[in-house]
Amino acid sequence: MAVERSEPTYRLALPEPTTSFEQDAEYCVLDLGQGWTEYRFHDYAALYEIPGLYEKLFYDILQCQSPPVVCDALVEQLRAEGVDPAGVRALDVGAGNGIVAQEMRSRGIGKVVGIDIIPEARAAAERDRPGVYDDYHVVDLTALDDERREAVAGGGVDVLTCVAALGFGDIPPAAFRAAFDMVAVDGFVAITLRDDFLTDGDTSGFAGLISSMLDSGELEELGATVYRHRLATSRDPLLYRAVVARKRRPRG
Ligand SMILES: C[S@@+](CC[C@H](N)C(=O)[O-])C[C@H]1O[C@@H](n2cnc3c(N)ncnc32)[C@H](O)[C@@H]1O
Repeated sequence: MAVERSEPTYRLALPEPTTSFEQDAEYCVLDLGQGWTEYRFHDYAALYEIPGLYEKLFYDILQCQSPPVVCDALVEQLRAEGVDPAGVRALDVGAGNGIVAQEMRSRGIGKVVGIDIIPEARAAAERDRPGVYDDYHVVDLTALDDERREAVAGGGVDVLTCVAALGFGDIPPAAFRAAFDMVAVDGFVAITLRDDFLTDGDTSGFAGLISSMLDSGELEELGATVYRHRLATSRDPLLYRAVVARKRRPRG
């Protein structure tokens, strides 16, 4: 399960920190030996194909800390609620190449199933962290037939994680809702969201969805913390909120 990190076979550069970009327009340039090419940070399929690039860019250079922050918060709440992490089956949505699953496993979570919308993510997880997922489904959560839903959720979902993947053209509210509906009553939800997605001025749709779930009693917040998700290419901090909550009843 350990990740082998060899020396990169590419050159990587970021824009000058004096320029700021919207988060979904951030990019880097890469030279794989044939000249510089621009890669948007959201070109996940292209980034995952280059071993070690995702970790180099987001973790080494831009100092991402979301996976350990949210997994610490999740395990703290599981223990506070008297739940043994070893008996838990987690569904990790927007799983990418498995960093969140690795963090959960290292904290004793028993089973982890991954979901991503692109096959390159599953291929990268199998390459970079073989065995970290018990199962990994490449699916669009908003277009699941009964057979796929049963394949994903049939074993029960005690914990839903979604880290650095909500909004910004990634996972839309409807896909999050579909994943949430698979969680067992009294199951846990551990997510990260850009802090301003939970304010009144939010246009992502998440503030409305989460506050309606809280207001209706479907969801009970156990804990939340604002933290630095990572640096932007401007080197300014990007503030996110990690929320751990408990599903208290099925959708009405
Ligand atoms: C920034 S990466 C985060 C990966 C991982 N959670 C981590 O923290 O390292 C966002 C991931 O969400 C996935 N994604 C985007 N839209 C999605 C959707 N509608 N359903 C499932 N996964 C999606 C992307 O393919 C990508 O792997």
